[in-house]
Amino acid sequence: MRRVLVVDDAEINREVLSNILADDYAVDTASDGEEALDILQRNGTDTAAVLLDLYMPKMDGFAVINVLKDKGWLQNIPVLVITSEPATEIENHCLEMGASDFIHKPFEASVVRNRVRNVTELFVCKNKLEQKVEEQEEVLKKQYRIIEMQAEKLRESVPFNRLMMEYRSAIMEVETRLKILNEEFSQVYNRNPFESIKSRLKSPTSIYEKLALKGYPVTVESIREHLTDVAGLRVICSFPDDIYRLADLLIKQDEFILVCKKDYIRSPKNNGYRSLHLILDVPIFLSNEKKYVKAEVQFRTIAMDFWASLEHKLKYKKDVANTEEIEGQLRACADSIEMLDYQMQDIRNKIDRSTSSDMQVRGNA
Ligand code: GTP
Ligand code: MG
Repeated sequence: MRRVLVVDDAEINREVLSNILADDYAVDTASDGEEALDILQRNGTDTAAVLLDLYMPKMDGFAVINVLKDKGWLQNIPVLVITSEPATEIENHCLEMGASDFIHKPFEASVVRNRVRNVTELFVCKNKLEQKVEEQEEVLKKQYRIIEMQAEKLRESVPFNRLMMEYRSAIMEVETRLKILNEEFSQVYNRNPFESIKSRLKSPTSIYEKLALKGYPVTVESIREHLTDVAGLRVICSFPDDIYRLADLLIKQDEFILVCKKDYIRSPKNNGYRSLHLILDVPIFLSNEKKYVKAEVQFRTIAMDFWASLEHKLKYKKDVANTEEIEGQLRACADSIEMLDYQMQDIRNKIDRSTSSDMQVRGNA
């Protein structure tokens, strides 16, 4: 049988309430706040509910609620305040302090039973849910510790470090080819097709996480076989047509093998994400062999990159309110950004045409 605690300085009230609840609960009684806290201290969270009078000697009901709140018990033990007449102001005050419900005098047996039952059942569910969340958090923490331990093992492994060296080399290889193209463009067309290149090597932790998530073993062979984005490059261009020009030129280079092309510019993701992704097999030239390793190259305009960074923040920040609304706004922004990109490209084309015809006129003169 679950326990409830009836706290009232009037003996008659304690008696009546005890009688009403005796069939369903083991009833403890206290005649003031101090005694109530002593009992709660002894019984801990065994108490399913506290029925609490407000005006009592030594320590009143308000003070008891405050102590329960400070100790964090109010989260798990519901308080039903015993009041003589409905007074909105006091009731609101009690609710704001954290009380769950009210028992009105004179006591109506069935109402008292129903109210106590409803509140205690609600708290049982709430406590169970909280416990589940805590257990899940504990499981997640354990999983995270395992991931970290495995990642640490990877960091110390010689073959893994050799593999990472190969991926770093692939990044350098692709970066150099792109920089050469950029140089050539600035000579021939008097402008640079890309604004910047960012690169990153996937961390041991996220390598482990991705393999584990997909159910693959965490070995050097498995990384080679199943991961295509350990070596990652992001090329930020000014205009959409530069993206395609650069990507085509890169693919055409003899040594690079195109494994996969995902065009999220012509076919954007549902959330609005736009970028051109290439997975390349990149040759690296080591002291005694030529080896191919995979690299992922993402091409975006400055505007698409601005959007993707913001969207990334939204995706990974779990406590953002109005997520659906924000996602809708992000999709709309992605569409505006596309329009802006092509408008800017048109303006550039017009400027290019007017400067070339200008030069022609001057050349003819
Ligand atoms: P990942 O497992 O995340 O690598 O995705 P995937 O293997 O299905 O390939 P995909 O081409 O969809 O994504 C590759 C990379 O593109 C991701 O790791 C991100 O860097 C980027 N990306 C893809 N989709 C999105 C997106 O919706 N928003 C943002 N900000 N980045 C994205
Ligand atoms: Mg990825």
